[in-house]
Amino acid sequence: MRRKIVAGNWKMNMLPDATMSVLEELQTLIEGATAEVVVCVPFTDLNYAYYATQEKKTVHIGAQNMHWEESGAYTGEISPSMLTAINCEYVIIGHSERRQYFAETDETVNKKIKAALAHNLKPIVCVGETLEQREAGETVNVITSQIHNAFEGLEAKDLDNIVVAYEPIWAIGTGKTATSEEANDAIKEIRNQIEKDFSTGDISILYGGSVKPENAKELFTTSDIDGGLVGGASLKADVFSKIVNYDKE
Ligand code: PGA
Repeated sequence: MRRKIVAGNWKMNMLPDATMSVLEELQTLIEGATAEVVVCVPFTDLNYAYYATQEKKTVHIGAQNMHWEESGAYTGEISPSMLTAINCEYVIIGHSERRQYFAETDETVNKKIKAALAHNLKPIVCVGETLEQREAGETVNVITSQIHNAFEGLEAKDLDNIVVAYEPIWAIGTGKTATSEEANDAIKEIRNQIEKDFSTGDISILYGGSVKPENAKELFTTSDIDGGLVGGASLKADVFSKIVNYDKE
């Protein structure tokens, strides 16, 4: 089901003390928000984030990666049930930084999505093109094949528990945002591909890449963008809350 979601991706930032205080402040600033709010924190902050938010339950907690296997000899990895055991609800899968620096592929993304769903974790699946691919006119091909491969073997009913994030790589952390038209067009293409594969395009698709308070409203009120995945601007409660409250003036 399409719903508005604003998700923060803290990346490799924030120690436990800061996690607790930022989440405390955030919860007071987003009271009455209409969008669902998710914050994806480093593994070491998950437990702290859960305890900081479990009373109000207005912020959903997510991880930023996981392994697809249940257990075994995978030094340094975290399994799906390790996440659910500490009440983690969402998990980012296939972020471009993981694809770029940690050899994540469409195939591992697909395995991770299936493992997440099998454990009742909601994957936030990232796709997006590089600047070279955009300039070569390959954007639509790249993002539709990423989503087609990522979703191989899934069923239409799974889509309710999955969130997609379209994040053009050239817009991540660069201050360069896709225009709302570019982002909306790309997201329409992703939705069309999902509709082709599953006979329904009823799934939340977010935009990510230099989202900030100044551009959130314009992006999130287009026809196909269902919210945002926010990196840098999610690290400060006052800034992130303005993005969450994009529909309030
Ligand atoms: P950014 O990151 O908002 O800092 O560009 C977005 C992301 O990587 O999810």
